Amino acid sequence: MAKQFDQDECIPDYEREKPTRYWDPSRRLLKTIRDYNSLTKRKGIYQYFLKSFCVLRYRFWSIVTSADIPLNAQLGEGLLLPHPNGIVIHPNAIIGPNCLIFQQVTITNGVKIGCHVDIGAGAKIIGPVTIGNNVQIGANSVVIHNIPDNSTAVGIPARIVKTKNDMKKYCDKNETDQ
Ligand SMILES: CC(C)(COP(=O)(O)OP(=O)(O)OC[C@H]1O[C@@H](n2cnc3c(N)ncnc32)[C@H](O)[C@@H]1OP(=O)(O)O)[C@@H](O)C(=O)NCCC(=O)NCCS
Repeated sequence: MAKQFDQDECIPDYEREKPTRYWDPSRRLLKTIRDYNSLTKRKGIYQYFLKSFCVLRYRFWSIVTSADIPLNAQLGEGLLLPHPNGIVIHPNAIIGPNCLIFQQVTITNGVKIGCHVDIGAGAKIIGPVTIGNNVQIGANSVVIHNIPDNSTAVGIPARIVKTKNDMKKYCDKNETDQ
């Protein structure tokens, strides 16, 4: 039976972001952003130098990944960027925990994304829009309308092709047919 959205999926999975080796560009980029934001909350000359070092690391990994993710981006924990090339995120966009963003995705101002949202390669999300929890967005889709929880949206402009409720009904029907 299709799995419904579980609130546990909004609990950040910190393991997803941990660099697995030194040359792990997307995780290293995220780590510099996390480090910078945790240092921003503290004051002092030592923190000032650490922050400056963070900015240098950030610039290095931004060049390596070719991603434009601002230092003050509002990124939920547990973010995965398997191929970070060409990802552009506006600093006012809000991204929930445990999301997955593929290459060449653009997320503009006014976008609010829930938890556990997978965004396919080349998708563009043009705000203001709100994307619910547990959503899949197809490769090369252009999202200009809100997307509810537990759904799959594809195309230009993106339309909903699947909801988890449809899948549940389909699975229930198959189980009773057997
Ligand atoms: C959106 C996605 C997750 C849907 O997968 P799924 O749940 O298996 O859905 P299906 O393949 O059954 O497709 C459902 C419908 O959407 C259409 N569709 C799927 N992906 C689409 C896309 N990107 N653009 C336009 N239509 C799409 C299918 O043709 C199908 O239409 P139909 O019902 O009229 O035949 C998947 O198609 C996708 O785009 N994944 C992103 C993968 C990616 O970017 N990988 C990067 C690897 S480097």
